[in-house]
Amino acid sequence: MRVLVSGASGRMSKRIISLMANDKEIEAVFPVERKNHPDIGKDLAEAVGIKADNLSYKITDKIDEVIEQADVVVEFTTPEATLEHLKKAQDYKKAVVIGTTGFSQKELETIKDAASGISVFLSPNMSIGVNVVFSLIEQISKKLPSDYQVEIIETHHKFKKDAPSGTAKKIAEIIARTKGQDPEKVIIYGRKGHTGERKGNEICIHAVRGGSVVGRHKIKFISDEDEIEIIHNAASRDVFARGAVKAVKFIIKKKRGLYSTEDLLK
Ligand SMILES: NC(=O)c1ccc[n+]([C@@H]2O[C@H](COP(=O)([O-])OP(=O)(O)OC[C@H]3O[C@@H](n4cnc5c(N)ncnc54)[C@H](OP(=O)(O)O)[C@@H]3O)[C@@H](O)[C@H]2O)c1
Repeated sequence: MRVLVSGASGRMSKRIISLMANDKEIEAVFPVERKNHPDIGKDLAEAVGIKADNLSYKITDKIDEVIEQADVVVEFTTPEATLEHLKKAQDYKKAVVIGTTGFSQKELETIKDAASGISVFLSPNMSIGVNVVFSLIEQISKKLPSDYQVEIIETHHKFKKDAPSGTAKKIAEIIARTKGQDPEKVIIYGRKGHTGERKGNEICIHAVRGGSVVGRHKIKFISDEDEIEIIHNAASRDVFARGAVKAVKFIIKKKRGLYSTEDLLK
């Protein structure tokens, strides 16, 4: 497998590259960064601090010069960069793994459309644990009476650029759909001012930012008599990076279509 890693100097991509170093199944890693990034021209092995035969390429900002040699493009960047590189992947007929979050509904439609021609793996949270939480909250939402009120609190490091997290949005959507509700109508983002009494069916997401928290999601199901709380706490970025490497190995075998971590777990 030959893998192009976009945003190669980013927090997530660096961990993904470290896990790919010396992986026998991964023959080469092509690192791509944005134009004028200070790391352009650096040896990848030196940049991640690991000596490995498959990390022998230099970091480049010229995706067109390396994409043809790659089988899969891995994107943990920004929505703009991801959509730009998705187009390149379509042109060159390459598979894509997208971990980037913060897409608008329209941008998500663009990604879905692209998946009719190439294979695309899209997951706002590549950790196996969080994906187990997804199925757990679906079961809980099915079984609990409808008068339980749902609040979601996500906490991330101070550098995170989008809010709320893609994971919190996905959790809220799963709960809404399981309860037969339209996510657009019931999901709200924080509260301010004279909000009036809480509406029974609203699902409220709160985004906390600070320090170096890798990612914490707390889902509360509250009734007048009890409260259920599910917490997922990522101790390190490797929990997502490991999922991304698994996604690369999974998507390479697929012809075309849209896949996610749920498909990996089936
Ligand atoms: N799916 C998951 O499991 C998961 C887990 C964690 C994070 N994420 C998401 O992954 C994304 C990245 O997170 P992160 O913490 O790694 O962010 P980050 O440290 O900011 O890394 C993003 C990298 O992409 C680079 N970049 C920007 N524009 C580019 C372009 N046009 N071409 C190539 N590279 C470009 C950035 O360069 P500059 O910084 O110099 O602009 C940076 O090095 C976010 O959307 C985050 O929410 C997903």
